[in-house]
Amino acid sequence: MKRTLIKNLGKELGNEVTIKGWVDVARDQGKMAFFDFRDGTGKVQGVVFGKPDVLEIAKTLRPEWVVAVTGIVNERNDKNAKEFKEHEAQTGIRDFFIKDVELEITGFEILNKAETPVFEITESTQDTNEEVRLKNRYLDLRTERMQTNMRMRHNVAKLCRDYLDEQGFCELETPMLTKSTPEGARDYIVPSRLTPHNFYALPQSPQQYKQLLMSSGMERYFQFARCMRDEDLRGDRQPEFTQLDLEMSFVTEEEVMQMNEELLIKIVTELYPEKRIQQVPFPRIPYAEAMEKYGNDRPDIREDKDDPNLLAFAWIVDFPFFEKTADSDDPQAQGEWTFTHNPFSLSKPEHVGNLRNKENIADIIAAQYDITLNGYEIGGGSVRAHDPEVLRSILSILGHSDDKIEENFGHMLKALGSGTPPHGGIAWGFDRLMMILQNEKTIREVIAFPKNGEGREPMVESPSEISQTQLDELNLELKPLEKESE
Ligand code: AMO
Repeated sequence: MKRTLIKNLGKELGNEVTIKGWVDVARDQGKMAFFDFRDGTGKVQGVVFGKPDVLEIAKTLRPEWVVAVTGIVNERNDKNAKEFKEHEAQTGIRDFFIKDVELEITGFEILNKAETPVFEITESTQDTNEEVRLKNRYLDLRTERMQTNMRMRHNVAKLCRDYLDEQGFCELETPMLTKSTPEGARDYIVPSRLTPHNFYALPQSPQQYKQLLMSSGMERYFQFARCMRDEDLRGDRQPEFTQLDLEMSFVTEEEVMQMNEELLIKIVTELYPEKRIQQVPFPRIPYAEAMEKYGNDRPDIREDKDDPNLLAFAWIVDFPFFEKTADSDDPQAQGEWTFTHNPFSLSKPEHVGNLRNKENIADIIAAQYDITLNGYEIGGGSVRAHDPEVLRSILSILGHSDDKIEENFGHMLKALGSGTPPHGGIAWGFDRLMMILQNEKTIREVIAFPKNGEGREPMVESPSEISQTQLDELNLELKPLEKESE
C-alpha cells in the first residue's frame, strides 16, 4: 500500500493506511499491544487488539525496528487528544507527537531489525556522554531534539537561499583545494600527488575567491561555505564549520549591514515567532565603546539573560585597522603592525589617504563590521580595498616585502587592476547563529557530524593513519614521534 506520512494521518480518518517508520516505544499488555511509531514527520500511537495473528508479530517488535504498519485511522477522545487539539487551535502548530488520532493496527511488515540502542532515543541526549553520542551519531540524530535542530538548520538555510536569490545573488562554489591564505589561523594542508613536495591548503574562508568573483562581474555572490581552521577548539569553534558567505559589488558598509539585518529579522519573525528581538534597528556599538563598557568586542547586551527567547543583536563598528603585535610569540615580530580583521578590507573613506601614504597608522579606522548576538560574534565583514595600490600599501604596512607581496598576493593585485568594482561583503558563522536560535550550548548540537573537543570524529575515527603505499605515492616520509613526558 502507498505510504502515508504520520503528519498527514489526521486527513485519513476512518481509512486503512500504511505508515513506514521506526518503533519508538513498544508496550506489551497481554491481549493488547501499544506502540508509538515515528517517522521523519511525526509520532503516533498504534494499538493491536483482538487480532491474534497480528498480536503475535506485535510481541516480537522492539524499539528502533523499522516497520511498515497498516491500520485504520481512528479519532482519539481522551485527555491527551483534547489537550493536543486545544494547543493546535491556540498556536496553529501541529505538534510532532500527534495525539488526536491513533492507528488500529491490521498488519505489520518488518523492514529491518535493530540492536538495542546504547541510549534512549525517546529522550533528549543532552546529558548523555558526548563521546558515546558522537560514536553513535546516527542514533543521536534520531532523537526529537536533534531532528528539530537539523530540520531548523535546513529551514533557515532555505529561507536565506530564497531571500538572497530574490535579491539577485548567485550561489556559487569556490575551491576546497586551494592555497594558504593569511586569515589568521593555521591551515589544514593536503599533499599533492601530481606535484610532489607541494601542498594545497583547505580554505579558512572563500575570502579571495569571492572577491575574484566581483572582479569577474558576478556582482552578487553567496555560498554556504565550508571553512577549515586548525585552531584550538571551544564550544563555539569547530575545525570545520559553515559560513553563510556573501559579497556584493558597488555597495557601501551601510548597504551590506542593512540587507543582512533585514535577512536576520526575517529569519526570526518567520521561523522563530516565539522569539523577541531586543532592539530594531540593531544597535551600533563602536569598538572603543564596547571595549571600554564591556571589556570585549562581542558584548552580551541582553536586558534579561534568563529569557531563552530574547535575541540581542548588535553591530560592532569602527574597528582600528591595525594593531601592534605586542603579544606575539615571536620576539622578532613584536611591535610590528598586524591587521585586526582582514588584510583585504578598506578603511573609512576619509582614511584612505593615510593608507596610501602609510601615515597615522594607529588611527586608521577600518570599514569593518561585526555582528554579535547574545554575547557571540556571529559574523563579520567589510568593504574591501579594490584599488591595487591601496592593497599593496596595506600589505606593506603589515611588513610584507615587495617580493612576498608579488608571490602571495600577485593574483589579487592583478585582478583588482583589471577593472574590479568597489565591493564589500560579510560571512556569518552559520553554526553559531543556529546554536543560539535553537537555544543550544555548543555548535556541535547543530552540526550533523561534528568533531569532538580534540578535533576527532569518534564514529568514523578520523583522523587516522594512512598506508605506506599512500605515503609513497605522496613522496612523504613520517618522522618518528617525540617521546612524551621525558
Ligand atoms: P571571520 O574569520 O570573522 O571572517 O569568520 C566569520 C564568522 O565565522 C564564524 N567562525 C567560526 N565558527 C565556528 N568555528 C570556527 N572555528 C569559526 N571561526 C569563525 C564566526 C565569525 O564571525 N572572510 C571573512 C569574512 C568577510 O570579511 O567577509 C571571515 O572569514 O561567527
